[in-house]
Amino acid sequence: LLAGCGKSNDVLVVGTNAAFPPFEYVGGQSGDEIKGFDIELAKQIAKDAGKTLKIENMKFDSLIVALNSGKIDFIASGMTITPERQASVNFSEPYYEATQVLLVNKDNDTIHTLDDIKDKHFAVQLGSTADMMSKKYTQNVTAFNTGFEAIMELKNGKVDLVLFDSEPAANYLAKNPDLKLIKLDFPPEFYGFAVSKQQPELLNSINHTLKNLKASGQYQTLVSAHIK
Ligand code: ARG
Repeated sequence: LLAGCGKSNDVLVVGTNAAFPPFEYVGGQSGDEIKGFDIELAKQIAKDAGKTLKIENMKFDSLIVALNSGKIDFIASGMTITPERQASVNFSEPYYEATQVLLVNKDNDTIHTLDDIKDKHFAVQLGSTADMMSKKYTQNVTAFNTGFEAIMELKNGKVDLVLFDSEPAANYLAKNPDLKLIKLDFPPEFYGFAVSKQQPELLNSINHTLKNLKASGQYQTLVSAHIK
């Protein structure tokens, strides 16, 4: 398996962008531990494959390149399954349903329907589904490496809104009482773990882990502990 990549056979490398709480974030006692719902699932995936998990934290828009160059074995990063991405990677069964929401400054009362976001100045995370979707509404989009930086830009009054995934948006909102969250009629998005098309066995093994976690009730326990 992946001979010549400098990787040992008993290590499974997961790639993530740990700026997406509660799915992946940097925290813990030491302050530099990578934690979250996806990380718990990734640990179980490695355990079931009889391997030790190694986590590579990187920019979100580098993940698929890292996967297809063999630098990482799979992606656990709240990544939405899309036809565009399916052209270059395989996805596991969906493991979480989310949607996009808006974050705006609390005093902004101008947005009630999808019509109202046309031509607004958006901030998004680079390479995210929000980044792709925003182009339907405006060309006035500034993309950042993390959703956190996008939110800073909003707080500084440089953009009108941040388009971001529902759970991380709620998570950041809890720490930023000067913002508010707006839910509009955006389509559902399903998160999946991405695997190289060269690794069908790993894909099977991930799907087995998900199936077992769901059947045993552990999946729901993890959702309750990390998400709601
Ligand atoms: N679900 C969105 C997407 O697939 C955003 C995911 C961002 N994940 C992250 N760990 N930063 O594009």
